Amino acid sequence: MTRSLRQLSAPDLTGKRALVRVDYNVPMAGGRVQDSTRIEASYPTLDYLAERGARPVLLSHLDRPGGSPDPRYSLLPVVDVLAEGIGRPVLFAEPADSGEAAEASRSLRDGEILLLENTRFLPGETKNDEGLARRFAELGDLFVNDAFGTTHRAHASTVGVTRWLTPAVAGLLIERELSALGRLRGTPDAPFVVALGGAKISDKIDLLEGFLSRADRILIGGAMANTFLSARGEDLGDSLLEATARDTASSLLDRAGTKIQLPVDLVVSSGPEAGADARVVDPSAVPGGMSALDIGPRTRELYEEAVSSARTFFWNGPMGLFEREAFAQGTNALAAAAAAATSAGAFTVIGGGDSAAAIRQAGLAAAVSHVSTGGGAALEYLAGGSLPGLEALEGP
Ligand code: 3PG
Repeated sequence: MTRSLRQLSAPDLTGKRALVRVDYNVPMAGGRVQDSTRIEASYPTLDYLAERGARPVLLSHLDRPGGSPDPRYSLLPVVDVLAEGIGRPVLFAEPADSGEAAEASRSLRDGEILLLENTRFLPGETKNDEGLARRFAELGDLFVNDAFGTTHRAHASTVGVTRWLTPAVAGLLIERELSALGRLRGTPDAPFVVALGGAKISDKIDLLEGFLSRADRILIGGAMANTFLSARGEDLGDSLLEATARDTASSLLDRAGTKIQLPVDLVVSSGPEAGADARVVDPSAVPGGMSALDIGPRTRELYEEAVSSARTFFWNGPMGLFEREAFAQGTNALAAAAAAATSAGAFTVIGGGDSAAAIRQAGLAAAVSHVSTGGGAALEYLAGGSLPGLEALEGP
């Protein structure tokens, strides 16, 4: 376990500038924040600091602008959302390594928060450049990493900066994420049921391998199911699948016995736009020219039953093209099953990215035990990998 913000004493915080790495990599459209979950997730740390007289200076990336300024990826739209949500004045300065930023950090007053422009506007950020890390370090008197979603990246604002700025501790969001996800890494209460969907097996091989030995059931949906079904010899018509991962899928199926559960029926359509011709077919009877876009009703029932039997449940990746209503039923059914299992006493975790969006879209985010703010980082952690952003922080 890394040292936490809670372990710092009052003199470490009072009157100090706390350089906080947050993950405000949020969906934007037309210059507006589309989902403020990650912003809200930073409030406990920011409130904790402000209540103890520390002045937060925030660093974050947004998307992948490639090392130079691009107004499409400005963090400016976050300012109002953050100020309104947390109820404190939020100032903005750019770019993060300029004299302007250092000056703004020094003239910050009690109760104010300073947000700096996208760290990925600077060419050294993703290269973990030492010079940039040193300049970041000049912006604070202590460093708090609360960007759980970015802990799998070794960048100047997550790793490099900790060489030059101490204390370097974990924030309250990281603490909460590790406590929830840690329960899944250890020996979770059985039955431990896992549902995995989304497009690619190749992104989740380590995770699948890890769950093969620790989970009791693994329910597969989404395009990932198409690859498994194709590895089993089915002709999936025009369905999206990952041909290069067929051998991996075969080997996993060989070793899994009955642990891996594949769809027993599918909702197919001639395309995402063509919800009207959607119909339910057996996986061995997908017509040419049609694509599987959701799990079918018998599969939904099977999966709901499996989730309701779980004492521990982890879900990552939608069961179909949930952004379209015609193909959202499988995903929504799983969200409802996760909520019901939670009320029945199970510990339930949703693993970030699309599945987090899906559970929010279903209005059930508050009805499960934990919705992770990390996509890749959560999966990396659960697969047993190391998170450089955590390793760079101080020990207990
Ligand atoms: C995420 O959304 O997974 C994190 O913010 C990391 O973003 P990245 O994949 O662009 O590094």
